[in-house]
Amino acid sequence: MPSVARSRRAESASTPSGAGARVAAEAPHEAGAGASSSAPARGGQGPLPERIGEYRILRKLGEGATSEVFLGLDEFHAREVAIKRVRQAAVRDPVDGRYYSRFFAAEAGLVGRLQHPHVVQIYDAVTTADEQYLVMEYVPGNTLRPYCRPDQLLPLELIVEIGFKCAMALGYVFRQGLIHRDIKPANILAMERAGQVTDVKVSDFGSVLNLGADTTQVHRVGSLSYMSPEQLDGGPLSAQSDMYALGAVLYHLMTGHPPVEGESQAATIQRIMNAPVVPPSARRHGVVPAVDEVILRALAKRPQDRYTDWDAFANALAGLVTGRLVPRGNLQQVLDSERFNLLRKLPFFRHFDDVELWEVVHQGRWQRYRTGHKLMARGQPGRDFHIIAQGRVEVWRDGRKVETLTQGMLVGEMAYLAPSKEERLRTADVVAVDPLTTLSFTPETLAQLSVACRGRFNEAFIEVLVERLHAAQEALSQHSRGR
Ligand SMILES: Nc1ncnc2c1ncn2[C@@H]1O[C@H](COP(=O)(O)OP(=O)(O)O)[C@@H](O)[C@H]1O
Ligand SMILES: [Mg+2]
Repeated sequence: MPSVARSRRAESASTPSGAGARVAAEAPHEAGAGASSSAPARGGQGPLPERIGEYRILRKLGEGATSEVFLGLDEFHAREVAIKRVRQAAVRDPVDGRYYSRFFAAEAGLVGRLQHPHVVQIYDAVTTADEQYLVMEYVPGNTLRPYCRPDQLLPLELIVEIGFKCAMALGYVFRQGLIHRDIKPANILAMERAGQVTDVKVSDFGSVLNLGADTTQVHRVGSLSYMSPEQLDGGPLSAQSDMYALGAVLYHLMTGHPPVEGESQAATIQRIMNAPVVPPSARRHGVVPAVDEVILRALAKRPQDRYTDWDAFANALAGLVTGRLVPRGNLQQVLDSERFNLLRKLPFFRHFDDVELWEVVHQGRWQRYRTGHKLMARGQPGRDFHIIAQGRVEVWRDGRKVETLTQGMLVGEMAYLAPSKEERLRTADVVAVDPLTTLSFTPETLAQLSVACRGRFNEAFIEVLVERLHAAQEALSQHSRGR
């Protein structure tokens, strides 16, 4: 029976058979290409438990090599949660049991630590005399696995956007001193609405390598197909190792095949180490060379030939969207990643970190207007304010143009900030002079943001108001000098 886990120290063995032995068994629906399907620790798979701890169990969501995941009801917080319970048969396994407990410990160590819109949040970890489980954010939908099937491939632009979000998420993870080590389609959860993938979240930190910890960390390895050459070789791991794995996932999503396949594990390993990767464009119609370039760079054999950091990889992916190098399914619908990049460039958002900016992208109201559209009319009540994302507006008062506002500027915030109701009337006409894209908030939508994010808004408002005050004083002193 293959050993499913080895210590980090033991990973230095680099014979193909040694590396192959690290392939973990996965549940049948999880088994990826190249994954072994032997199941050393399954069994004990009884009926659905009624409760786990304080949670009422509704149904089973999925399973991996070491655990089963259930949908549970947190009655106290009135929310659904995902509960990942370590298989007891696994823990009791005489050979590998102690490793399984370590996977749990690795993930349990992250309770409350990872807070990113594209990372599954871990709320709690519980160990009792007879069970160990994690309580996590529930992600309704699926994993990315079904979308790797050649007959179920996603649109190219969506794959690129998924890549962008995962790159941002893993950049965040890396800044926390962590390397995931098991990025693969089954470990990326896809939120779905009406059968469409709407968002993704990186999950399953059971194999995480904590660069800040000095205890020996065990690695359970899932599917060979996504593993970097250096990981197979037992070499030192870096952000670039996860980058390779994400590149392999994107490749699989694009083409329906992992980047490297072999008839046996040993053959797969040999190819990952040495064989060139067939460019995605050769396997999917409509893929342009620029897309090949980005994916193949992430899949470079040597870590130093990949992107220098996560931001560079994320930017390269976003560049494919902004450069129109992937088709755009629906022109009306600006992709989230494009919006994110748009806001990232605006001085108004310079103090927002990535997490906060994602919140803004998701919670704000995005609207497009044609040239000539009257965004605001003098004397009309209004409580929303807009940030100009693209285009320009003119501000008119008493038949006179008083100002032209451009990208990154605020419109309508005076009525928004006004203390009393009477003052919440627009003081000028505002007209689009270009095709205009704005992001707007009302007091209600702003109140839904996290405290941190609202704090950033207040900071940015104060900066804008101080700038205005300076400008007004300047104008006033010039006026009085002119007399
Ligand atoms: N937060 C979650 N929300 C919904 N489904 C989940 C969640 N976490 C895991 N799952 C499902 O359970 C499966 C196994 O979870 P995972 O954390 O990958 O376990 P393992 O460490 O055993 O591989 C996933 O592939 C997915 O189908
Ligand atoms: Mg998993």
